[in-house]
Amino acid sequence: MSLKMPETVLLGTGYEVPEKILTNHDLEKMVDTNDQWIQERTGIKERRIASSDLTTSELCTRAARKALQDANLQPEDIDLILIGTVTGDALFPSTACYVQEKLGACNAAAMDLQAACAGFLYVSTVADAFIISGKAKVVLAIGGEILSRIVDWNDRSTCVLFGDGAGAAIWGAANDSGKGIIDTYMKSDGRLTELLCSYGGGTNYPMQEAIEKNVQFIQMQGQEVFKSAVRAMSEAVLTILKKNDLTGDDIDVLIPHQANIRIMNATVRKTKIDENKVYVNVDRFGNTSAASIPIALAEARQSGAIKAGQLVLLVSFGGGFTWGSLLLQL
Ligand code: COA
Repeated sequence: MSLKMPETVLLGTGYEVPEKILTNHDLEKMVDTNDQWIQERTGIKERRIASSDLTTSELCTRAARKALQDANLQPEDIDLILIGTVTGDALFPSTACYVQEKLGACNAAAMDLQAACAGFLYVSTVADAFIISGKAKVVLAIGGEILSRIVDWNDRSTCVLFGDGAGAAIWGAANDSGKGIIDTYMKSDGRLTELLCSYGGGTNYPMQEAIEKNVQFIQMQGQEVFKSAVRAMSEAVLTILKKNDLTGDDIDVLIPHQANIRIMNATVRKTKIDENKVYVNVDRFGNTSAASIPIALAEARQSGAIKAGQLVLLVSFGGGFTWGSLLLQL
């Protein structure tokens, strides 16, 4: 197996989730649902929910501080802060600017990028491009969400799925160690926008109008999203493997977007990756959108579930539709 020499290396990771745990049994008291239905259809047992005084930028900042510590770097070492989020603190300024201020990252440019649940793969791909081009040496890439604020807590078909949290990675210019980002892949299909969306506060439906028309929350056509998700994730896995002359057997660990255990299982069946290689934490955190992959990546590094020398494949999909994959030599 001969892999491309990476130009971008992973220097550190960290994640932060709110303290409050909302279990399936708690949800039974809120909507007409039950623990068995949720576990069988999604694999979720519990999720974290932010208290009303917690902001997305605060979750992101806490995750970033842990990643900086892990990388043994200071805030002033960061050249660029990129945040994937659909639940930023405000329409503008960007959540990245709030994080820049909270960290004291005085040398960093800062911006948000919107690719829904694929947000972290998108920001990491942009980080890789900035580093390859020489425009940045150290990039802080974050996925962070407080989805509980845009979920309709009366809609049992969506409110059981989502959770809050943030994950951060520090990407830096690689030496010739062979470790780092081997390849990335990104795609989109805007014909599928209406399958999964939230209109509140956009220019199509300014907030007041969105509330009057009751379109301010996450809307989803579950079964269609499910099918598209399996198709997109499988395509992203198979494409990046083929581009790099690899097969599923060469991958040590697959970290898929933690939306639903059945989507993950269907994806590994279609791509012929051993299901024992799949990292899963959806049972504890639910779907945290852009935060899902970086939380899983940070947690897996911290627990030793992934380690130096392993070839790790990240794959995600989300509203838009957006999807992608990232091949990482640890
Ligand atoms: N508890 C109990 N019953 C529920 C329920 C809940 N939380 N939510 C829906 N139901 C009911 C439905 O009303 C329906 O009842 P009916 O047969 O009497 O009409 C029944 O369960 C089946 O609903 P359906 O939507 O067909 O279920 P499903 O097997 O498709 O599972 C999802 C629903 C949402 C779990 C599934 O479609 C899914 O995971 N989709 C992808 C979602 C996702 O990952 N989104 C994020 C992408 S980033």
